[in-house]
Amino acid sequence: MGITYNEKEKVFKLDTAKTSYILGVTDEPGHVVHIYYGKKLRGGSSPTPMPGIDKKNKHWFFDGAWLEYPTAGVGDFREHCIEVKTEDGCNTFEPLYLSHKIYKGKPELEGLPATFAEENNCMTLELVMKDKLIGLEVTMIYSAFEDVDVITRSVRVRNTSGKVIRLTKVLSACLDLNNEDFEAVTLHGSWGRERHIQRRKVGHGRQGVSSERGVSGHQDHPFAALVTPGTNQTLGEVFAMNLVYSGNYEIRYELTQHDSIRMVAGISPYNFEWKLRHGEIFTAPEVVMVYSCEGLGGMTRNFHDLYRNHLIRGKYRNKKRPILINNWEATYFDFDTDKLLSIAKQASELGIEMLVVDDGWFGNRFDDNRALGDWVVNEDKIKGGLNYLVSEVNKLGMKFGMWFEPEMICPESDIYRAHPDWAIEIPGRDPVRCRNQYVADITRKEVRDYIYDSIAKVLRSANVEYVKWDMNRPLSDLYTAGLPADRQGEIYHRFVLAMYEMQGRLISEFPDILLENCSSGGGRYDPGMLYFSPQIWCSDNADAIERLYIHEGTALIYPLSTMGAHVTDCPNHSNGRTTPFDTRGKIALAGTFGYELDVTKISEEERDQIPGQVKMYHRYNDLVREGDYYRIASFRENNWYDCYMVVSKDKKEALVTYVQVLSVAAHGMPAVKLQGLDESITYHVDELDRDINGDVLMNVGLPVNGEFGDFKASLYHLVSQ
Ligand code: GLA
Repeated sequence: MGITYNEKEKVFKLDTAKTSYILGVTDEPGHVVHIYYGKKLRGGSSPTPMPGIDKKNKHWFFDGAWLEYPTAGVGDFREHCIEVKTEDGCNTFEPLYLSHKIYKGKPELEGLPATFAEENNCMTLELVMKDKLIGLEVTMIYSAFEDVDVITRSVRVRNTSGKVIRLTKVLSACLDLNNEDFEAVTLHGSWGRERHIQRRKVGHGRQGVSSERGVSGHQDHPFAALVTPGTNQTLGEVFAMNLVYSGNYEIRYELTQHDSIRMVAGISPYNFEWKLRHGEIFTAPEVVMVYSCEGLGGMTRNFHDLYRNHLIRGKYRNKKRPILINNWEATYFDFDTDKLLSIAKQASELGIEMLVVDDGWFGNRFDDNRALGDWVVNEDKIKGGLNYLVSEVNKLGMKFGMWFEPEMICPESDIYRAHPDWAIEIPGRDPVRCRNQYVADITRKEVRDYIYDSIAKVLRSANVEYVKWDMNRPLSDLYTAGLPADRQGEIYHRFVLAMYEMQGRLISEFPDILLENCSSGGGRYDPGMLYFSPQIWCSDNADAIERLYIHEGTALIYPLSTMGAHVTDCPNHSNGRTTPFDTRGKIALAGTFGYELDVTKISEEERDQIPGQVKMYHRYNDLVREGDYYRIASFRENNWYDCYMVVSKDKKEALVTYVQVLSVAAHGMPAVKLQGLDESITYHVDELDRDINGDVLMNVGLPVNGEFGDFKASLYHLVSQ
């Protein structure tokens, strides 16, 4: 394991437990080429000869070579990673090997979230390339992990030219592969139906996913996996990339004329132009690469372990989260202290552990048309003040949390009236409104300092133990008074950096606060945000059946411990569906678990189920949070039932969730073949009160009891005998 350099062949080999990644430097002039990524290979040599260059026909090299960091202008006409503009207006950049270093551990990325590791579980290669003519250096940073099959990549670009160089595109990683008839697995959606899985064949031409919304978005997701035909949960080869970034991005793949496939990932070049002065460095975000020859399930478990152990930070990283009740769907804007306390009182009696006050507690915010930015408690609603409310909630034995939307500013707000230039808008143009709000220009230090301070002041004033950080509109009408005309192309990225800086400040000043990110539901659910918050609200749609799709897509990459999931009232507020309360609870159990309804108004029959659900959460949450996740069956594919399970790392315990979405007449449910168990262990299945051997459960199956009727969920708890 680790990283080796074969000096004779000029070949670098990065090994994880089961995978190898190989790159090399060609003979003079010294291009850095990709050689191999896949199942682990023995030895430290290149498995293929290094490509050579015939100077008379150098275009043949650039037209087909597998380059680690392909550039514009030289004659490589496939997807490439970087485009520059020098002072003389040229875009050609031909970086050649300059130096490298290999070391234990992993560096931080300036201003950006990134996975982290210790010296004993990761090694890093930094390989510097330079174009001496224009004086621009690129350092490619690769880290190989020891405990997960993950390689990460990122890039630092440094100007050594003595002049200004403009970067108009800087991606983070490129991967060339021989075509194996790949299919692409990606995630797509919209508000209320985020991260649905899509799979389609990769053809010739350029394809991929992207966002130009300023956030990673509900629509596409900064993730793509190329899979060999027939790949399922247990079999097949998977090459996946996930970008640790929360703004505009692109992940593109192209089947080329030579029948090889090129995949690139990084910040979207849309409206991106970074002015790099002499001596300055631009750092591109990290790409996480996973190779699995054990199907999508193998990929998923690598992502989960990486994010749980090497990305998520803070007090709650490995801890059970308090069961919360959020008042949004219970009251919307119509609440006051008395109403909140009546919900809290009833909730505390049922075992719920935290009250979260959502949108509407501040300024003149009695509907969603005004007051964002006025982060001052509205004491007409919060009668007696925040401290009084929080202490009354605390007296009930509950924690208290609250909602903010720090990156926004409403035209109808005191802050905007005082500082009309603090919104992102173009002078003289009426900016596009969304939910009657503008985006605050947090790229300006004075704006983000003001907003941060007004939020921190509220948090310092009472015992607030949870914050929901929301972000409810995309960016448009880009212009900032904080930058000159020739640097307006930096706004998108500077906005993301500013938001990261604010979240970083928040978690360092309030390390005990549990932070949950949110963006109109799950519109900014990405690894960048997980660096700051251990959980993210998955979707405003908490309908149990829609959540099967959302949870399946989300859990393809992200650990269950990160998935914000609540039991809400029916008919569901987003799609009108009615499902049993019991089913809603069992499906929310796959996430952080909580409630978002008026517990004083639901039926007694439903209320009576809450203590049992609370008990269920406390019984299973350690397993759900820390276990290995296996996707057994998907309603999306079979139009019948959904099934997933978590297995403890020592394989002594497992929890299977089976959801009969649509009842099928005339025949019972066949046994469902489980995965991930120990064949030699005999498990007691609590719900069946039967002992069944692991090999039987995996090869014959668990005899699930398809209940009569739709939308029925069952849990099966397996414990080693
Ligand atoms: C967004 C969030 C919701 C809620 C509302 C409040 O839509 O996703 O959960 O907080 O804002 O306005």
